[in-house]
Amino acid sequence: MMERVAIVGSGLIGRSWAMLFAAAGYKVRIYDIEPKQITDALSNICSQLEHLEEIGLMRGHLTKEQQFQAIEGTNDLKYCIEGAIYIQENVPEILELKRSVHQKIDAIMDPTAILTSSASTIVPSDLCSHLKNRNRFIVAHPTNPPFYAPLVELGPSPWADPDLLPQTTALMKKIGQSPVTEDVVSVQDLDKVMSDGLGR
Ligand code: NAI
Repeated sequence: MMERVAIVGSGLIGRSWAMLFAAAGYKVRIYDIEPKQITDALSNICSQLEHLEEIGLMRGHLTKEQQFQAIEGTNDLKYCIEGAIYIQENVPEILELKRSVHQKIDAIMDPTAILTSSASTIVPSDLCSHLKNRNRFIVAHPTNPPFYAPLVELGPSPWADPDLLPQTTALMKKIGQSPVTEDVVSVQDLDKVMSDGLGR
């Protein structure tokens, strides 16, 4: 059976993550608090896949129909999260909102799953200090647009399990992204930041 990931927040960044995982062969459930956002996200993903096929930039080996069918919209957070091996939160950049969404996810998620946030400007400790699963929390901050600029900055929580960063790094590479680690940047990672992110 194909592994499943959960995408929370179906705006610009959430829908991009959904497409990246579907292209790599994962099942995706995408949730939003606003039902119309889900409808809009699915219709936008459908158009984006058609456009990508037209210009020859589809990722992976699946057809656009198979990729689209792999993505299921839902307005039920529990249904989105349960059974997911990886959860990506993409709600607006407001600390209290993100902390509250993380707390709801925390109560449902599998304790071995990876919980990530697309947060651009908030440090990992502030996003997860209140979670029982804070050992599974890591920021995965993409470059916009993620489908074309593969750079992803990874910033684990101070309480992260030792295997969390290597696991997340491996998963990002598997879906075709280019992960670097936040902290003091290495020469190799700085090169990726330019060639796979800002430089594009
Ligand atoms: P957006 O405004 O396009 O989408 C946010 C979505 O979250 C909306 O669909 C909204 O209905 C939904 N939402 C609000 N409250 C919610 C809740 N309680 N539960 C579930 N869904 C909820 O925002 P965007 O641009 O996708 O940004 C999301 C995150 O990604 C932010 O943290 C942002 O800083 C980060 N980011 C954004 C980039 C960009 O260029 N836009 C680039 C990299 C990261």
